[in-house]
Amino acid sequence: MDNRPIGFFDSGLGGLTSIPNIFANMPNERVIYFGDTARTPYGSKALSTIRQYAFQIADFLVSKDVKMLVIACNTISATCLDQLRERFPDIPILGIIDPAARAVAAACTKDNNIGIIATKATISSGDYIKKIKGFNHELMVYEKATPAFVPLIEEGIIENDIMDLTIHYYMDDFMKENNIDTLVLGCTHYPLIKKNIERIYEGIRIINPSREIVNPVAHILRERDALADDKNDRENIFYASDLSETFSRMIQKILETESSDLILKFKNLEI
Ligand code: DGL
Repeated sequence: MDNRPIGFFDSGLGGLTSIPNIFANMPNERVIYFGDTARTPYGSKALSTIRQYAFQIADFLVSKDVKMLVIACNTISATCLDQLRERFPDIPILGIIDPAARAVAAACTKDNNIGIIATKATISSGDYIKKIKGFNHELMVYEKATPAFVPLIEEGIIENDIMDLTIHYYMDDFMKENNIDTLVLGCTHYPLIKKNIERIYEGIRIINPSREIVNPVAHILRERDALADDKNDRENIFYASDLSETFSRMIQKILETESSDLILKFKNLEI
């Protein structure tokens, strides 16, 4: 038993989409979240910059005595997982792409046309294709970078024509030319536009990696006898490097809770 918190992090608010799944399945666990809202998006930045930022956040969370790190960001998982594991060999670190690739392989056959949408850095890394094909080399996988989604979502531009037009702009040809029937939301921000995508591409099957991390988190903690018990104080803390009004509005929406129930803290990271 270990009542220390689990550390979650992302370039911004996207990683929050994994948190309700954690609370629903592991109600005793407590979370410290870091969203780098001052420096988001990461997906179009240089690899060296993404790594520098990821190290700063992980150092901060480890200083808070977390029992595990969950990289609730595809971009950081695709580019920094090995480096983070080298930096913190004693702390279990889960990236989001392995569980997502496993879910894709379990759900698909060679007759499916699988589409991955993600940031530029995630697509350039080739990590999704490599890992999915590692499970089943016969699967047909197509990828598309959709870099403008994250800034729009961080701005709360979701349920409106601007987002719909952006989805059409990036995805119409991609979906049609490759006859995509299964779409992987390869960025933790994208579950927030899942409804738009389902409305525009009727009948599409969606795989949401933000849900797929729950079982591996539980598995890792159980294996180490590190699950929390029901005496945990359940105080969850959400840090942001820019605590804007939009962030606090979006966090309430994503976690479906009132601001008075949330501990939000500002944390500036040195550049
Ligand atoms: N949520 C991050 C991901 O899963 C967004 C990356 C970004 O900041 O561009 O990739």
